[in-house]
Amino acid sequence: MSKVNAGILGTGHSYPKGILTNADLEKLVDTSDEWITTRTGIKQRRKAAPGEYTSQFAVQASHEALERAGINAREIDLILCATVTPDQILPSTACLIQAQLGANNGAAMDIVAACSGFLYGLSVADTMIRGGQAKYVLVIGAEILTRYVDYTDRSTCVLFGDGAGAAILGPVESERGILATKIRSDGRYEEQLYAPGGGTKGGFTAETIARGDHFFKMKGNEVFKVAIRSMTDISREVLDEAGLKTEDVKLFIPHQANQRITDAVAAKLDVDSARVYSNIAMHGNTSSASIPIGLDECVEAGRVHPGDVILMTSFGGGVTWGGVVMRW
Ligand code: ACO
Repeated sequence: MSKVNAGILGTGHSYPKGILTNADLEKLVDTSDEWITTRTGIKQRRKAAPGEYTSQFAVQASHEALERAGINAREIDLILCATVTPDQILPSTACLIQAQLGANNGAAMDIVAACSGFLYGLSVADTMIRGGQAKYVLVIGAEILTRYVDYTDRSTCVLFGDGAGAAILGPVESERGILATKIRSDGRYEEQLYAPGGGTKGGFTAETIARGDHFFKMKGNEVFKVAIRSMTDISREVLDEAGLKTEDVKLFIPHQANQRITDAVAAKLDVDSARVYSNIAMHGNTSSASIPIGLDECVEAGRVHPGDVILMTSFGGGVTWGGVVMRW
């Protein structure tokens, strides 16, 4: 192979056994299954049990991806773990995953880009593989968001769930693999979705914990509109860059934030619902894990065939957004 692209060689996913249904949430806050279903499309989400942690699910997803790719963990040159809910502050969750996998011949680091983290990871992996700096890269999106959810705040607690998805990337012929990537952020919109406590600025004291500063806070309404616009625009940009049109897309996997956001973006792009993947009813919003979980579920369901064009797009806290188009 003289000129190579970065392609996905294997995928995997994992999530906790615990399930939190809309009926469970009705007992915690003033909400209803009817409101959650019609406003978000979510019916249930996974919730990690006390003692379970992010890297556990990331490692399970990675084992599955490695097996399907036919790659040994010792061959991995780089591990990128997208997460906003790390196991601990230091070291990175990627390093903890590296140790559990026995993938000790490369480098490992976390990516903090909220729901766009997995697409940020694909973008970095693509550059490293095409540039010849890495052969095999493991990209993971893994979250235990339910630890940072305030179960007295009905505007956020109904949305988030836990899980992990992983993909092994490696060199493929230049007609296949990742065709274009685009990642963006705009830190001026920090307060659309943020958690002020727990860092050097907000502090981590008995008072900040009592105030719930470590919980996610979101201006849902504002995020809603910007998410639709940003995901639509960046999808068009990556397709343009790849020389493709929306009618070429066989499978569209948007970040699963809200069924109404997915429907609006798909309608604006003119992608009919048969080509759109949605699992929000079962998982809720799992942030960086949502796209890799969705991709692996599509692989397992036989919805992905060689030569298919796949479009992925995301929007999340930061704010961050991204788009990736690839040929399977
Ligand atoms: N149950 C019942 N009523 C509720 C609930 C609830 N769970 N939550 C809010 N409401 C009420 C509000 O209080 C409000 O009542 P009011 O009219 O009396 O004031 C009413 O419902 C409407 O509230 P809105 O916030 O306008 O509802 P909206 O239709 O916008 O839905 C939602 C809220 C679901 C949060 C939506 O705005 C959304 O999905 N936003 C985007 C989320 C997102 O994409 N986040 C980014 C990615 S996440 C990441 O980066 C980790």
